[in-house]
Amino acid sequence: MSLNAATPGGPSLPQRRNLVTEIPGPQSRGLFERRQHSVARGLSHVLPVFVSAAGGGVVVDVDGNSLIDFGSGIAVTSVGNSADLVVTRVTEQVAQFTHTCFMVAPYEGYVEVCEQLNRLTPGDFDKRSALFNSGAEAVENAVKVARHATGRDAVVVFDHAYHGRTNLTMAMTAKNMPYKEGFGPFAGEVYRMPMAYPYRWPGGPAACQAEALDVVTNLIHAQVGEENVAAVVIEPIQGEGGFVVPPAGFLPGLATYCRANGIVFIADEIQSGFCRTGNWFACDAENVVPDLVTTAKGIAGGLPLAGVTGRADLMDAVHPGGLGGTYGGNPVACAAALGAIETMEKEDLVGAAKAIENIMLPRLRKIAEANPVIGDVRGRGAMLAIELVKPGTPDPDAAAASKVAKACHGNGLLVLTCGTYGNVLRFLPPLVIGQPLLDEGLGILEDAFSKL
Ligand SMILES: Cc1ncc(COP(=O)(O)O)c(C=O)c1O
Repeated sequence: MSLNAATPGGPSLPQRRNLVTEIPGPQSRGLFERRQHSVARGLSHVLPVFVSAAGGGVVVDVDGNSLIDFGSGIAVTSVGNSADLVVTRVTEQVAQFTHTCFMVAPYEGYVEVCEQLNRLTPGDFDKRSALFNSGAEAVENAVKVARHATGRDAVVVFDHAYHGRTNLTMAMTAKNMPYKEGFGPFAGEVYRMPMAYPYRWPGGPAACQAEALDVVTNLIHAQVGEENVAAVVIEPIQGEGGFVVPPAGFLPGLATYCRANGIVFIADEIQSGFCRTGNWFACDAENVVPDLVTTAKGIAGGLPLAGVTGRADLMDAVHPGGLGGTYGGNPVACAAALGAIETMEKEDLVGAAKAIENIMLPRLRKIAEANPVIGDVRGRGAMLAIELVKPGTPDPDAAAASKVAKACHGNGLLVLTCGTYGNVLRFLPPLVIGQPLLDEGLGILEDAFSKL
């Protein structure tokens, strides 16, 4: 047991960076040694500090170091770790009952989460939701619904997409290493289209805006045939693929094209949803109304929960018993989601995400001006990224991204990398982080670039 095991987490944790050992410290290194002998090699770590508590904008490790959190456990703890309303609701629920299986004997919490999803997701029409355990499971089920409702097989996805690690979602995910290498054969009837990626579009951002939709729809027509496509699945802002933000008009155009061709338009909002981008959902920025939306991550303050929400006629096309799973919509996870959603509304976390953008984006742009290794700065709300390249070229520089991330880690700032080429630093602070920690974190980042 660590010396710090009794330190309570949550928002009452001192909101300060405090390093008392090297990173990782001796206790973390000891636990890492145990982990090497007990946990499979296939699981890797961004930073092998073992956590004893977390809350607000900090993560405290077993050596007593307090790190600034710019990762939120990959966009999950948007309301902060162990947020008060999440803890209260979870504690009450866990003492009442932990599981019955919604398919055996239902409970109100599940219905209430579905009601909230139906209310909050884009679109003012009759909706239904179903709950699952993970993002990948939600994506799988959204595709099941679309195939069942349309009677079609093909699924269209994009370059740089990430949709999960199950067999179908591996097929839908673009990047081979580490997600797909050696894990095939993959599910069929998945077709990949170019992503509207302004920074890397041949001809540049203006050409991307002008051309991307035509390129994609022409390719679908020529290579798949609209009448065969059950669903187009897209992350409105791509996550693991590099926080790629498509140009204005691309998503609305894609949604209109899908509607005109009887194709189910599925927005994968698993990373971008629940206030993260300064809207409840990233689609809201352009008033895009998907037929189905997949959610997970930020929905439940850290507990495993995912959802598929959308048009009642599509969702209800599936026969009774066709959707489900033992744990999907577990009552404790539902209680957490209700606490998280209440927190987002009470604390205006949509506004908080916009405020984070207003603080971070100008500072990131300033860092970029001083460092030609930064080729692009992008993102929205508290989902921001910088892409690192060999100066003067668009050639990805993953080594530089990794070096900057390591320097940040050593100085007590937890940052993540991403991108098909591993050359993107991404910033996903909890939406409840205070400005002093944001400023300090940006200072550490600036310092890391100055020493590159
Ligand atoms: C956009 C998107 N879809 C799906 C997933 C898969 O979610 P999970 O890891 O919960 O299966 C992720 C996870 O990073 C994601 O970002």
